Amino acid sequence: MITSKLPNVGTTIFTQMSQLAAEVGAINLSQGFPDFPAPVALCEAVGKHIALGHNQYAPMTGLPALREQVASKVASFYGRSVSADSEVTITPGATEAIFCALQAVVRAGDEVIVLDPCYDSYEPSVELAGGRCVHVPLALPGFSIDWQRMTDALSPRTRMIILNSPHNPSGALISRAELDWLAALIRDRDIYLVSDEVYEHLVFDGVGHVSVLAHDELYARAFVVSSFGKTYHVTGWKTGYVVAPPALSAELRKVHQYVNFCGVTPLQWALADFMAAHPEHLAELPGFYQAKRDLFCDLLADSRFRFTRAAGTYFQLVDYSAIRPDLDDVAMSEWLTREHGVAAIPVSVFYREAPRDLRLVRFCFAKREETLRQAAEKLCAI
Ligand SMILES: Cc1ncc(COP(=O)(O)O)c(C=O)c1O
Repeated sequence: MITSKLPNVGTTIFTQMSQLAAEVGAINLSQGFPDFPAPVALCEAVGKHIALGHNQYAPMTGLPALREQVASKVASFYGRSVSADSEVTITPGATEAIFCALQAVVRAGDEVIVLDPCYDSYEPSVELAGGRCVHVPLALPGFSIDWQRMTDALSPRTRMIILNSPHNPSGALISRAELDWLAALIRDRDIYLVSDEVYEHLVFDGVGHVSVLAHDELYARAFVVSSFGKTYHVTGWKTGYVVAPPALSAELRKVHQYVNFCGVTPLQWALADFMAAHPEHLAELPGFYQAKRDLFCDLLADSRFRFTRAAGTYFQLVDYSAIRPDLDDVAMSEWLTREHGVAAIPVSVFYREAPRDLRLVRFCFAKREETLRQAAEKLCAI
C-alpha cells in the first residue's frame, strides 16, 4: 500500500460542487469561471498563431513579447520598472507559479503563514516542499489581517507568508497601511512573500488595487503572482506569471524549468498580441465586473440573504443565517444546489478550522446577465 504524501487531500469542493450542479441541472455559481466568451480577437489570435506554426516549445521563462507586455503593465499600473528578462516569468497558471515559488524557498521544517480562509493549493504545495502551514484566521466580519495573531504566529522557522488580495473567497482588499505594517513586522527577518494577486484588475468602487509591486521594501522579498485566466476570461488556458526580483526569479525558474519547462506557445503569442492591441481591456475590467456585482446584489436585495458588496474579485459572500441557521455551510451549499437549483461554495472549506457559527456561502458572479437573473430569481424565492 502506498503511503500518501498528502493524506488530507481529496477531490476539491470546486470539482464536487460543479459535478453536483451538472448532475441536478443547477445554475453553477460555485466554481470561479466566466460563462461568457473570451474576447473574439484574443481567440482569433490563438488560431492565427497556430496556423503560423507557433507550436513548439516557448522559451523556458516565457515568450519575450509577453514578458515585455507584463513589464510595461507593471510600470503603468504600479510604477515599478521591472526587467522583462530577469524579473518576469510566464507560467502555466498562477497555481504553478505559487507551487514553484514555494518549492524554491521552503525547506523541510520551515513554516509558512497562510491567512484563513485561503485558496486550497497553498497548503499541499507547502507540504510537498517539506514545510508546515501556520494558519492565521482573518478577522471577521471584514476579513482583515489580525496583527496580534500574525505577530504571535511568527517564529524563527517562519520562511514565508502568503498574501492574497483581492481575496478569494471574501473579496476583501489589503491596504497600503497593512503592507507597511507587514514590512515593519518582518523587516529584520529572513522571510519571503508570495503575493497572490490573480484578481488584481477586479477591484471596485474606484478603489485602486494595492500591489506588493508598488511597495519597494516588500517587493525586494516577494514573488508577485497573477493570472491571465482571470484577467482575460480564459481560466481554461491556465496561463499566469510571476514578477520577482532577479535573484528570486532565478531560483523560481530552476523549479519551473523541471515542473513544466514552459507555458503553451500559441496562447502566449495571442496574449502578447491582445495586450498590445487592446490596453483598454484592463481599464474597462473593473467597471465590467462591478456592473455584474451590482446587478447580482441588486437582484438579491429582496432575498433573505444578507451581504456586504464584495470590494474585489468575482465572488460575493452571502450570510444565510436568516434562512437555514440549522445547516452548516457544506449542507447549505448542497441544499441550495439540490433543492433550489443554484450551486454555491461553502466558505468553511477555505479554513483549517472554520469558526463554528460561520453561515457564509460564496457565489461567483462572473456570469452572463441572464444567468445572474435566473439564479437570483431562484434565490429570492427561498
Ligand atoms: C486566489 C487564487 N489564486 C490562484 C488561482 C489559480 O489561478 P490559475 O487558474 O491561473 O492557476 C485562483 C483560481 O481560482 C485563485 O482564486
